[in-house]
Amino acid sequence: MQFSRKNFILILLGFLLVDCFVHCQARTHHHRFIVKETSYTRLCSSKKILTVNGKFPGPTLYAHKGDKLIVEVRNRGKYNITIHWHGVKQPRYPWSDGPVYVTQCPIKPGGKFKQKIFLSTEEGTLWWHAHSDWSRATVHGAIIIFPKHGTGYPFPKPDEEVPIILGEWWKRDVMSVLEEFVRTGGAPNDSDAFTINGQPGDLYPCSKPGTFKLNVEHGKTYLLRIVNAAMNTILFFSIAKHRLTVVGADGSYTKPLPSKFITISPGQTMDALLHANRSRSRYYMAARAYSSGLNVSFDNTTTTAILQYSGNRRNASPPHFPYLPYYNDTLAAFSFIRGLRHLASKSHPITIPLNVTDKFIVSTVSVNTFPCPENFSCEGPNGTRLAASMNNISFVNPSIDILQAYYKHIKGVFGKRFPSKPPLVFNFTAEYLPLELEIPRRGTEVKVLKYNSTVEMVLQGTNLVAGIDHPMHLHGYSFLVVGWGFRNYDPKKDPLKYNLVDPPLLNTVVVPKNGWVAIRFKAKNPGVWLMHCHLERHLTWGMEVVFIVKNGEGEAAMMLPPPPDMPPC
Ligand code: C2O
Ligand code: CU
Repeated sequence: MQFSRKNFILILLGFLLVDCFVHCQARTHHHRFIVKETSYTRLCSSKKILTVNGKFPGPTLYAHKGDKLIVEVRNRGKYNITIHWHGVKQPRYPWSDGPVYVTQCPIKPGGKFKQKIFLSTEEGTLWWHAHSDWSRATVHGAIIIFPKHGTGYPFPKPDEEVPIILGEWWKRDVMSVLEEFVRTGGAPNDSDAFTINGQPGDLYPCSKPGTFKLNVEHGKTYLLRIVNAAMNTILFFSIAKHRLTVVGADGSYTKPLPSKFITISPGQTMDALLHANRSRSRYYMAARAYSSGLNVSFDNTTTTAILQYSGNRRNASPPHFPYLPYYNDTLAAFSFIRGLRHLASKSHPITIPLNVTDKFIVSTVSVNTFPCPENFSCEGPNGTRLAASMNNISFVNPSIDILQAYYKHIKGVFGKRFPSKPPLVFNFTAEYLPLELEIPRRGTEVKVLKYNSTVEMVLQGTNLVAGIDHPMHLHGYSFLVVGWGFRNYDPKKDPLKYNLVDPPLLNTVVVPKNGWVAIRFKAKNPGVWLMHCHLERHLTWGMEVVFIVKNGEGEAAMMLPPPPDMPPC
């Protein structure tokens, strides 16, 4: 039999149509978020917390790669609020990104805002959270992004998927914790508990009955979608007698990384496979702090949940307890973190920008102090006020959002003089540093980037006040982490050791205590994008910078216009 050309074309068209039906259907999902106060009982007492739809943690959003979500946020609480979609790049559309006074003014009590969330290359686990005051302590939830219809995971399909959301709980109202440390200039109160899926677990008073339990069947595989939603604490997490195999981080696949424990910082997400292949028993999963700062206090409690096999002999013996590295074990923390690698496979290729064009920014991230105002007593070290900075600028929120000011050319809201290198070069990681180096400058300075420039940014930790790890997060982008190191960055030697083969693609990276990281990204998402430390107290103290990525040429390289319902300032 012979095909005529017409038949051939018809068959080809039919095939393409069916194929497209399976592959290219991007969907729009509609949700409503009601932000309100809800009573919750934890640690033997009940209090009102801010929630979304009455849930803590909040609702999980599900989508496929490339889908769009429309979330109508209604504020029925008593505080101003904004919501951020952490890790979603929002191509050309910073309007829905959420950081307060950076891309929008807050949604006031009684107000609403319809946010559009455009998924593009993200695949895996991300999350959403409040991005104003300290509301994100309880206003957060997971975003789970499945592969495009008709495609699959780059690993054997798990039997089940389970969100594991790590959180931090204060007995006090978090807003009063915030108000107090901002007023006194001291450090915030440590939290009273950590939580797994909203529950502190067995080791805390009154918490046994609610403990989160993961029921598993022997022989099955579970995909844990882990989010660290804690406010101020990098966490170690592990499960007794089970290995986790990390297969994704920050919404991008990684080479499978088997490990006895994971280190996960606030802002990070990890996808990990759990093979239920041990004896039918009960096992603890647990998380506790990794805190490296000398004389920096932290919550040293441990949160637990229980992994129980079906058919286990309940109460036969207490569950096994897992191994967790010691609180300040930087080597353990980084032996895990440095193992993360981009999958860099045929189906999930990596593109590494090689020619760093114009920008080479070395930015110091520091905890600082301000002198105490007269006739006031401050609770920071030696009677000062604690602060934090990047390149010695402690960021001050403007009263109109930067995005609007940029778009409408409103003058006097921000300056464009964020320095491209540290204004003062000293031995950043020296054991003793003179006090005057501790004092930063207050300001609202942005860094302007040309469209499509290749940015390399070296983030250098300093030992000012107290050297500590900083989980730095960039909005609007994922970046490749091409280098890491302890001590001071050496601009001659260190670049020779960069990983330009399979560096991990992340949106949050931990700058090691008294160390540095180098990241790269192509500035091809025009807009106004915040970068900051994801330890909430450091963000409050000013450890943040705003990038303005200019429009490129042609419509496809330009920011989209704002929606009509931007919350008014
Ligand atoms: Cu998790 Cu500025 O965000
Ligand atoms: Cu920090």
